[in-house]
Amino acid sequence: MVTDAQSDVNELRSNGQTMRRGQCVARRGSEVVSQVSRCTMNTLLVLAAVLLATPARGQDLSGAKTLSVVPQTEAQLKELIKLFDAGQYDFWREPRDMGMSVDIMATASQVQELTAALERSGLKPQVKVDDVAQMVMRQNSGVYSRGARSLDWEDYHDSYTINRWMAQLASDHPDLCTLETVGKSYEGRPMNLLTVGKGGADKPGIFIDGGIHAREWISPATVTFLVNQLVTNSSAHDDLLSSVNFYFMPVINPDGYDYSFTDDRLWRKTRSEPASPGGCSGADANRNWDFHWMEAGTSNDSCVDNYGGSAPFSEVEMQVVRDQLTRLRNTTKVYLTFHSYGQKWMYPWGYTAALPEDWQDLDRLARDAVGALKAVHGTRYQVGSSTRTIYAASGGSDDWAKGVAGIKYCYTVELRDLGTHYFTLPPSLIIPSGQETFAALKVIANFVKKTYSD
Ligand code: ARG
Ligand code: ZN
Repeated sequence: MVTDAQSDVNELRSNGQTMRRGQCVARRGSEVVSQVSRCTMNTLLVLAAVLLATPARGQDLSGAKTLSVVPQTEAQLKELIKLFDAGQYDFWREPRDMGMSVDIMATASQVQELTAALERSGLKPQVKVDDVAQMVMRQNSGVYSRGARSLDWEDYHDSYTINRWMAQLASDHPDLCTLETVGKSYEGRPMNLLTVGKGGADKPGIFIDGGIHAREWISPATVTFLVNQLVTNSSAHDDLLSSVNFYFMPVINPDGYDYSFTDDRLWRKTRSEPASPGGCSGADANRNWDFHWMEAGTSNDSCVDNYGGSAPFSEVEMQVVRDQLTRLRNTTKVYLTFHSYGQKWMYPWGYTAALPEDWQDLDRLARDAVGALKAVHGTRYQVGSSTRTIYAASGGSDDWAKGVAGIKYCYTVELRDLGTHYFTLPPSLIIPSGQETFAALKVIANFVKKTYSD
């Protein structure tokens, strides 16, 4: 549902007010603006409305730190996996193997308890990020221009801005683009599907989504970059656009995504209301799909980040994406879903360490794609099944797309970086990330054209 306050905000935002770098800077919490003197009265009014409409603040990050440990023994690794599975802490680098470092974010009230727990296992925690609040603040103060008419890739943008840009793009390029509002999020935000191609509906397709996890901002930014390359530089890709259709949904968890701009930079889930009293808001949208739902790497505690939801497809946003994938499944050959971070190009299964029987086909295409990706800026991506590359986690969209919709080439891509900036990848890295990912997409699109179209 859209609260009245929220629709007021939308109203105000669509008045064409913009907040640009160097003018007004909306900050988390009650720190309202910097450089107030440069703001126009109107913009102040918009800001006031935005802030008034913003509900209680998200998690308190003051005093939050990340602690790193390196398990040296089997027992230590087991302890860490137990802690990870319990879901109480936010693991920013999950336990994989002995000798590989594990990063855990702890709020101020958790630091002592976590340190003690780690030390009891003989681990020596090192503080890696001393001030998570500051790290997050630093990024939020590089303003995204909310309500801007056109998009740029020098900042991150909320879902409203992205939608408005897509609408403009589609109306500027009617020969190439079809924009459809295919659903609404829980809080009433539009969910758009942009089809790019000129060969007609029968051509083989590549379905691409982003923003399933709210805080992974580089995902929608990269997906919109891909859209922009294809559409505004279409003459360079004439050939591909005549033989392949690209289906884009850049922000499939818009409520959570916007909430990570306004309230809690590290929010991951959707924003649905708790299913039972005393529960917490939202579910992990990438544990909510109806394929081996709730089996592995997921929780039925609504207050943890990998909560699978009250039922498969309890989250309306995932129903919307499911319905589009279902509608397009006969022609769609590739499904790509973008996350961050870790630089991994992963294929099913995510619910089991077993591999699909055609895994070698998926592996080969992934290796070709990351080869082209690396040639652009030297960025290295790891390739493998997601269970084998990171951890088992069931109810993911990739597994459903392959296991239920029958799309052969399904990939979850963990974009930049390797953990230097965690989820707060500096905006200056959006364009390099977009450029290299576009190189990978071209390899995949050429493969689709060659295999299914010619
Ligand atoms: N980091 C992603 C997540 O936790 C990886 C998903 C991989 N796919 C899967 N089905 N487990 O959602
Ligand atoms: Zn993710």
